Amino acid sequence: MKRINEEILAEIKSITDGSKYLISDLSNVSFILFHRLDGVNWAGFYLQKDGALHLGPFCGKPACIYIERGKGVCGTALASEKPVCVPDVHRFPGHIACDGDSNSELVVPIFMGGKVVAVLDLDSVLFSRFDDEDVQDFLKIAQYLETLFEKKACI
Ligand code: SME
Repeated sequence: MKRINEEILAEIKSITDGSKYLISDLSNVSFILFHRLDGVNWAGFYLQKDGALHLGPFCGKPACIYIERGKGVCGTALASEKPVCVPDVHRFPGHIACDGDSNSELVVPIFMGGKVVAVLDLDSVLFSRFDDEDVQDFLKIAQYLETLFEKKACI
């Protein structure tokens, strides 16, 4: 695991340790990711309900509130149930541009009971900001977040 991602996971574990509610955790995690990752201009969550994605806690500019399954990078991650790493969003068919400054993106699904319950979305102003190691690291971070989805109430 990259050292910075390791540190971030440790911070996430620490900050989510004492809280009772998932919504509080996802808000703090968004803040940590936004401020600790170089070149990241949007970090947050879309939550799955009735097969589509709805804007959850995030840090960054206001974003689209609803994404259909299969649409954009997030909807593709929901449909494929796999991480989607996009080095150049301008070349991704159907990319949904919430912040015109974004150039690359990583979306990782979060599972509960075998179903995608949310996606973690990271946008960067840098091209090719996320590599294969980041994908593996954020899968591990998503696995930790899954434990929070399992044991905490939303509010
Ligand atoms: N770019 C995403 C939309 C969400 S924003 O990046 C916050 C997509 O194509 O699904």
